[in-house]
Amino acid sequence: MGGMAESSAPEKLQVEEARADFVARFPGYKKTALLDDLRATEYRRLDELSQVYLDYTGGSLYAESQLQKHFELLRSGVLGNPHSASPASVVTTEHVERTRRQILNYFNARAEDYVLVFTQNASAALKLVGESFPFAPGSRFLLTFDNHNSVNGIREFARAKGATISYAPLVMPELRLDAARLETLLNDADPARANLFAYPAQSNFSGVKHPLELVAKAQSKGWRVLLDAAAFVPTSRLDLTAVQPDFVTLSFYKMFGHPTGVGALLIRRSALANLKRPWFAGGTVNFASVQGQAHVLSPNEAAFEDGTLNYLSIPAVEIGLLHLQSIGIETIAERVRCLSGWLLEELLALRHTNGRAMVRIYGPATTQARGGTVTLNLYDPQGHLLDYRRVEELAGAEGISLRTGCFCNPGAGEIAEGLTEEDMRAGFTMGTEINLLSFVRLMQERGHKSAGAIRASIGLAANFADVWRFLRFIAGFRDQTRLTIGDVSFDIESCRIIRDGS
Ligand SMILES: Cc1ncc(COP(=O)(O)O)c(C=O)c1O
Repeated sequence: MGGMAESSAPEKLQVEEARADFVARFPGYKKTALLDDLRATEYRRLDELSQVYLDYTGGSLYAESQLQKHFELLRSGVLGNPHSASPASVVTTEHVERTRRQILNYFNARAEDYVLVFTQNASAALKLVGESFPFAPGSRFLLTFDNHNSVNGIREFARAKGATISYAPLVMPELRLDAARLETLLNDADPARANLFAYPAQSNFSGVKHPLELVAKAQSKGWRVLLDAAAFVPTSRLDLTAVQPDFVTLSFYKMFGHPTGVGALLIRRSALANLKRPWFAGGTVNFASVQGQAHVLSPNEAAFEDGTLNYLSIPAVEIGLLHLQSIGIETIAERVRCLSGWLLEELLALRHTNGRAMVRIYGPATTQARGGTVTLNLYDPQGHLLDYRRVEELAGAEGISLRTGCFCNPGAGEIAEGLTEEDMRAGFTMGTEINLLSFVRLMQERGHKSAGAIRASIGLAANFADVWRFLRFIAGFRDQTRLTIGDVSFDIESCRIIRDGS
């Protein structure tokens, strides 16, 4: 599938008219003009290829200069494995340690408060917490319904060690936390036990920003708090002097596109001694013996960094952070606020000729305490759901990149789409035959429920024309039905796309 042809003159005029209306409604957009300059230079490939990229929650885009700087660093240096004292090793260690300090500085985390562990991604950081947290009978693992699966997975460590697992529910239609229920659940813990409360600073499903005040509140009731910041930090400031979760997890490609393969776990020093690693590896021990069959773990972050770090990519994190700082996270946040505010208003205004709404949005309808992740489904004039996979396919044909499915966030989807515990049990009776595709079919049989949605997410390189083109695409579904839009030609199993013949 290629990109779209160059915009025609009438189309350019339409965009300009719509832009004038948008800027009048969201005047703050003008203050973000720096990002239009960068779009024309650093991110020009988007327009050269006529691509509309709206999957920033999946991964952000890198600026050209990030690649050039990283390439130049690799080209001009002799960088060896950091585990020795050779000149090549020492240079690498300096890069890695400088990047570590830069990240702590970026999040305003004082060295006396936090250590930073380099990981492969946010999921690896979450697994480190899960496997090392001292869950035990009598302790609790509390998590919100809208966690990513890499947080949900921690419950298997908690379960194996006999902890009690509870989920804090969300309230429709905004998918925010049920504050009263959460309060009760937080009060349930015995502060003498090892209790962990995990929540996303921003939901990767609904875009909801949960209150950061929950961190101190839960801590005061005897909980360690894990803040999954993966979807929050790309467009918002996280200040770890003002708010001090015990654990913070993130992936850098979500912030600035390059590099992939590097994430971080920030551990508050006061929580460090509670963690117990279930194994050791090269790089994590001060001393280990075969005959003595014993080992002494290294102190601090080194005990969590298994084997050789991704030492050629880590310096690119410093380059990415400097790039974000040169723009200013507040500028990015304002841009995202304006574009997502307009997108929400316009989507909700879309009507079929018979007056019925075309779109249903899962999450807040305004920009209040939410980010630029907008999740929705489309309906025909009779109120029947349109297949989100077909919508994604048609979007792709127009050069528009979206994300569809459940976004590894089953809990938010279950609440948003009204799926019940019985629905989920019916799915699990299929045994190993269950996957997203067979579950979607089952839910259609059980009352035409949706088991998936369409997600458009806005980030630092997005501009007005991208959102306009997406909206024009969605408006094209006016008066369309399942029959007129045709059938999808690929299947999605879990998170893998399977096309005919592939
Ligand atoms: C909120 C949230 N947490 C965790 C993750 C996992 O990130 P990764 O796949 O980079 O490990 C994601 C990825 O989409 C996310 O959105």
